[in-house]
Amino acid sequence: MPFNLKGRSFLTLKDYTPQEIGYLLDLSAELKKAKYIGTETKNLQGKNIALIFEKPSTRTRCAFMVACNDQGAHAEYLGKGDIQLGKKESVEDTAKVLGRMFDGIEFRGFEHSTVEILAQHSGVPVWNGLTDLYHPTQVLADFLTIKERKGYLKGISFAYVGDGRNNVANSLMIGSAKMGLDFRIVSPKELFPSEELVAYCRNEAAATGASVTITDDMGSGIKGCDVLYTDVWVSMGEEEFFEERINLLKDYQVNMDMIRATGKEDCIFLHCLPAFHDTNTALGMEVFEKYGLKEMEVSDEVFRSKHSAVFDEAENRVHTIKAVMVATL
Ligand code: CP
Ligand code: NVA
Repeated sequence: MPFNLKGRSFLTLKDYTPQEIGYLLDLSAELKKAKYIGTETKNLQGKNIALIFEKPSTRTRCAFMVACNDQGAHAEYLGKGDIQLGKKESVEDTAKVLGRMFDGIEFRGFEHSTVEILAQHSGVPVWNGLTDLYHPTQVLADFLTIKERKGYLKGISFAYVGDGRNNVANSLMIGSAKMGLDFRIVSPKELFPSEELVAYCRNEAAATGASVTITDDMGSGIKGCDVLYTDVWVSMGEEEFFEERINLLKDYQVNMDMIRATGKEDCIFLHCLPAFHDTNTALGMEVFEKYGLKEMEVSDEVFRSKHSAVFDEAENRVHTIKAVMVATL
């Protein structure tokens, strides 16, 4: 069935069909190949792109920047405090102004409603670079990495271990339900995803052959999985919960015992990054001094092991974000 993504925003994977997600993944692979062999076409020549960041970012910011440069577009970084957004000017008015000047807008921030209002009022495609609820561009990079490593996506057994109700877990669950994966969230009950989102995903799964399991039982949750995924225990904006999360999640660290317990020698480890796998960061050191933990959600051994595909995954942020912009502009 023909379809056209021109003019569409990308706020959550809920808005995209399996066919559309598959198309974005295929386009990402094509754009990646073209970049590697030097045949990339500048599809976005003359376009102006606004990059709004309320929260910090390495990968998402750089991926949008590099993708714009590669495609001939100009990106303008609008960081926290650079524009009037939210303080002197409403999100709606800001959307109307930016829409008169830019061809597309990326937004990373706190409330998901902000990105929705930007999309509603700007008149140009708006892309979600992470909100408290969802991180959809991350999932495209994760799925591209799985396809590269395993050769297929539908039928992959995927276990997400850790904070089961954060933006990354939510988006992975939606994407997995749409793309036919055997998806499991393994987390303490206190951090299970919302029942409403699980019901939505199970409904999607019924049409694609996917399954969605939510469990606090580590043994059954990770058994036989092809992909083990984790994310930070404390997301941006939740820093006050460090102690609580450490207490809840200390037995959910991805380490070599967990990799072995999957029973899959070729299990791959993914993490959206940044990761706390040592004390070589200010925050990592602070946690060590306060709580005695040298590693949090993943051990340094797993992070650096042959199982780890995290830097392929990070690179794939560029190719997938580029595909989203090329397809929707
Ligand atoms: N994975 C990810 O979104 O990384 P950044 O926070 O560095 O953008
Ligand atoms: N869940 C993390 C993802 C970072 C890319 C956060 O929101 O901080």
